[in-house]
Amino acid sequence: MSIIKLFVLPGDGIGPEVMAEVEKIVAWLNSEGVARFEIEKGLVGGAAFDAHGAAISEADMARAKAADAVLLAAVGGPKWDGVPYDVRPEAGLLRLRKDLALFANLRPAICYPALADASSLKREIVEGLDLMIVRELTGGVYFGEPKQIIDLGNGQKRAIDTQVYDTYEIERIGRVAFDLARKRRNKVTSSEKRNVMKSGLLWHEVISALHVREYPDVELEHQLADALGMQLVRRPKQFDVIVTDNLFGDMLSDVASMLTGSLGMLPSASLGEKDPASESRKALYEPVHGSAPDIAGKGMANPIAMIGSLAMALRYSFEMGELADRIERAISLVLEKGLRTADIAGGAKQILSTAQMGDAVLAELKAAH
Ligand code: NAI
Ligand code: MG
Repeated sequence: MSIIKLFVLPGDGIGPEVMAEVEKIVAWLNSEGVARFEIEKGLVGGAAFDAHGAAISEADMARAKAADAVLLAAVGGPKWDGVPYDVRPEAGLLRLRKDLALFANLRPAICYPALADASSLKREIVEGLDLMIVRELTGGVYFGEPKQIIDLGNGQKRAIDTQVYDTYEIERIGRVAFDLARKRRNKVTSSEKRNVMKSGLLWHEVISALHVREYPDVELEHQLADALGMQLVRRPKQFDVIVTDNLFGDMLSDVASMLTGSLGMLPSASLGEKDPASESRKALYEPVHGSAPDIAGKGMANPIAMIGSLAMALRYSFEMGELADRIERAISLVLEKGLRTADIAGGAKQILSTAQMGDAVLAELKAAH
């Protein structure tokens, strides 16, 4: 059995608490001989700053690059509010994303039936929802040049941001979306604003051509980004995979994630380019939530987003989709039994601590084995 190297960055706040539950599951997978995971641990964010005055050390950056996948919990908190910008906890995250060249951000929105009443939308609109937003992460208006504020000298200033996309950037994010769709329900919705933006026109053209050339078996539709925002809250179950640029993806993924209830439930993945020789790619898996300083150290954080991030790693980095399905099924069964952490307490039969929730998921996994 080949060895899989996981680089684990628990970070700060509730990070170490939720990561501990993932470590339990990995230890069990190893003991069952399901796979052979080797865990190396590092420091990021405030934990790294406290230890050696940087948001992440060079040694840990090197370990992140050498690993088969990086699992990160969360960073940040008021304790580090005063520290210089380049060593702030968030700088560790940005460094990882940049140095691993993670250009594709995958944000699933899954509504477990047992939690459908926690959504702000009606049960029938979200129950069973399972969509994936693929956001381009390294291009677009957040990085395009020129980007500046000019003093016009007459009491006025002018701010300029520039949306830039090249063909290759659109193609590579398109491939991620089409490949994902083939493993899901085989449908991609591509979104831009070609009616008012040149970058939208090119986006539409490149995705359409890629579809014809390489993915004719996948269903493709195009929706303007504003219309898609409407459809996300009106009839979200029409979507399978949505692919869009950095800016629209930032907004639309936050909207989609809230269809499902709690931040404590939401995993994510960020993927780099495929190495043509090994077919492997750099990848970082992390929950969407932050370090939740308000509940840190209390043992009440929900570990499901972190556990779901492990499931995504199994599915997207290691071709272990069946194992990922089993973990997600275990989560679903735990919820159906009315076992909940405090953040998803609606309809609970019993409120569990972080560790109890991790144990409950593991118990379901074992029972199904
Ligand atoms: P947050 O996501 O940490 O917390 C928002 C609210 O959701 C809080 O009430 C928190 O208790 C709750 N919450 C979050 N995760 C939870 C979980 N697993 N279980 C139960 N409840 C949960 O966002 P906030 O408060 O805006 O930021 C706190 C710190 O985290 C800041 O320093 C921020 O910069 C950082 N942050 C880090 C991120 C990361 O590491 N990727 C992402 C977002 C924020
Ligand atoms: Mg955002």
